[in-house]
Order: sequence, then C-alpha cells, then structure tokens
Amino acid sequence: MSWMLGLYPIVGLTMCGIVMVAFCTVAWDGLRNRRHNMQLFRQWQQSQRAMLDERAANAVESKSEQGAWSGWRSFQITRLVAETSDATSIYFEPVDRKPIASYRPGQYLTIRLALPNQSKPEVRCYSLSDAPLKNEYRITVKIKPMPSEAFPKSVSRFLNEGAMVGDVVELKRPAGDFCLDIENTAPVVLLAAGVGITPMFSMIQSLTKRLVKRQVVLCYGNQNSKAHLFRKEIEALERSVENFHVLNCYSEPLPEDKQQQNFQLPGYLSVDVLKNILPNQQFQFYLCGPPAFMDSLFHGLQDWGVPASRIHFEAFGPATVNSLKTDAPDFAAGVEKIGPRRAHVRFMQEGDEPIEGESELGTILEIAEELNVELQSGCRAGNCGTCTVKLLKGKVKYPDGITPTVEPGYCLACVASPVGKVEIKA
Ligand code: FES
Repeated sequence: MSWMLGLYPIVGLTMCGIVMVAFCTVAWDGLRNRRHNMQLFRQWQQSQRAMLDERAANAVESKSEQGAWSGWRSFQITRLVAETSDATSIYFEPVDRKPIASYRPGQYLTIRLALPNQSKPEVRCYSLSDAPLKNEYRITVKIKPMPSEAFPKSVSRFLNEGAMVGDVVELKRPAGDFCLDIENTAPVVLLAAGVGITPMFSMIQSLTKRLVKRQVVLCYGNQNSKAHLFRKEIEALERSVENFHVLNCYSEPLPEDKQQQNFQLPGYLSVDVLKNILPNQQFQFYLCGPPAFMDSLFHGLQDWGVPASRIHFEAFGPATVNSLKTDAPDFAAGVEKIGPRRAHVRFMQEGDEPIEGESELGTILEIAEELNVELQSGCRAGNCGTCTVKLLKGKVKYPDGITPTVEPGYCLACVASPVGKVEIKA
C-alpha cells in the first residue's frame, strides 16, 4: 500500500502536466485565432475605409454636379444692388426652386433676355462676382458708356436701369476656364481694371472664406473712387485676412480722393508698378480688364520673364483673344501672305435674299455686322457657343489656342475667320 502512496505525486504531477499542455494548446490556438481575427478585422477595416473614401469622393463629385443643367434654364431676379453710380449687382434664383450647379471662382454666366420692344432676345456673358452662394448666382454689370457697333442694344444699361426684381431671364450653367485653383498654395497676383474686378472678387471671396495661408496680392486700377467697385468689402478683407494685400491705382483721382486712403498710386497699373512692389516675378498672374490693359500687362509680364503658363486671363471679345492667344498676328495664315487680305462671305437667310460682300479679313461675326446681317452672339470669345452658325460652303480658320467644340459643318462666328470664299446659313 505504501508504494501506492508514492505514486500519488507522480500521478498528480502527470495530471498537472496534461492540464498545462492542454491549457497551453488552447491558449496558443486562442492566440493564433486572435491574431488571425485581428488580421481579418484589419482587412475589413481597410476595405470599409476605402469604401467610405470612395463614397466621400463620389459625394464631392456629385455635389459639384448637383443642380447642373444643359441648355437654358429660367431664373428670376431676386435682388438688385447698386454698387456704384453705373454698376449693379444682380442676384438670380431658379424659377423651379431646385438646386443650382456650383461653380469655380472666375467662371461666368451666359444670360439670355428680351429687351423691351425687341422680338429677338439678346445674349451676353458676365463673370460671377461672388464666391459660390447657396442657391443663387450674382453678377455685377457696369453700363457700357455708349452702345457700340458690337453691342448696339445695351443690355448692360437695361440691367442697370430697366431690370426689376421678379423679371425672368434664361441662364446657361456657369462655364469658363479662367479659374483660380483654390487648392494650390502658390502665391498669386490678381490684376484687374474697372469691372474686370468681378471674377477676381469671386476668387478673393473664395480664398478668404477658406482661410488658406496663401499670399494674394490684388492690384486694381480705376479712374477714381466713383468707379471703384467693392471698395469697402475689399478693404475689410485686407484688414482681416493675413497675406492678402491690395494696391489701388487711380488714373484720374477726384479732388476728394486721398492718396493712402482711397488709393495708393496715381496713374495706370503697369508692369513697372509690379516690379516696384513685388519681390520677384515668381507668382501666378491673373488678368482681367479692357483689351488695352490686358495687352499691355500680358506682354509686359512676358518681357519681365514670366512664362505664359503662369499668366491667366479672361478674354471677352475678339480683340483680346487675337492679341493674347496668338502671339503672332497669323489670324489668316495660309490664305494670302502678301497684299490686301480680303474674304468673300455669303450669308444665306431663310425666306430672304442672300447677303454677300467682301471684307477685310476678320471674324464671320465682324463681317456679318459690317454687312448688317444679324447673328446671335454672347461672349464673343469662343466660349459660350451662342454664335454657332452652319457653314454651307468653304473653310474657316480659328486663332491658335482656340479649339471650338462644335458639330462638323458648323463654326463659331465670333472667332472663325473665313478662308477665301465661304457660305454661311445666317
Ligand atoms: S459668342 Fe460666345 S462663342 Fe461666339
């Protein structure tokens, strides 16, 4: 019996060993499973994260497409705000009260409206003059001093003096490539003259709302304080936003205009002024103003060594397009290099005699205006498509840098130049 007593510790120890081994095996399996589960969990987490990222990206994309439309859409004027004695901000909301497309700061609206006592509606393009607003658009329009040949019916005057809250106009969705990349942090110089401030003001508002630490210099040329648009708003932004600096130039200051109060420099805004105030030319430059202003600054900046890739400009009107988008005056290259350059254009009119004539080479729209043939136009810079006409015979040529998106057999009259003889359906 005593030998049996001696076995107890051995049996006990063996049992303990078995339990320990079993415990370790279970624990090891548990650990392995746990590790495996963790791996699975991590994979699941990653896939969820990727899915959420994708959803967020789609949401951003679809947000920018939300409210988009094609063709014309009816909008009502909801507010008219006099900015100066000859410029008014006009706010539009959609008649259908549905969401509207957002836009990039710097883009423009194409507007179609009927002027009193006129059977055909007029089409014009105006830059959006604010950061994207919730469900409305704003443009700011300055009265053109006199109806010109190009704009015989003054839409700008009507919008300033005749338009009323509640009037309905038609709008195309915002468009245009003169946009500021607000994600970019490269320092930027905005150069504006007169009403050319409108796309710049949209850019400034968008940048300052995001509180981006980006160096922004606005150089703004005006005749005097009477013509100075958004003065108070810009001054307030300059006071409150770090890295935003403003230089105002007045070409004809009024006696009450005080230097260092309303403006900093007398005279015109020029590249020499920029050389004095900027440390170097390592900026992105954005230009908007009358053709002479754009022309002088564009070429001045290039002479100063700024590559064309860092000069961005808004072009409304063929004069601007021709001088800036094409460096050489080869608007009619390939037609006749020597001697007078004339084109023969025949406009076919439905139910009417064709009108034809010879003209010094210009755009089809310019030739039509010379011959008193009425063609629709909007931006006059190849952007909005309003002047699209059917090309029945012959060929046209576009300035370098302009690639119009029109169906085959059609052309954009505002930028297309006839090559020899052409026939157009007016
Ligand atoms: S008028 Fe806009 S494209 Fe010709």
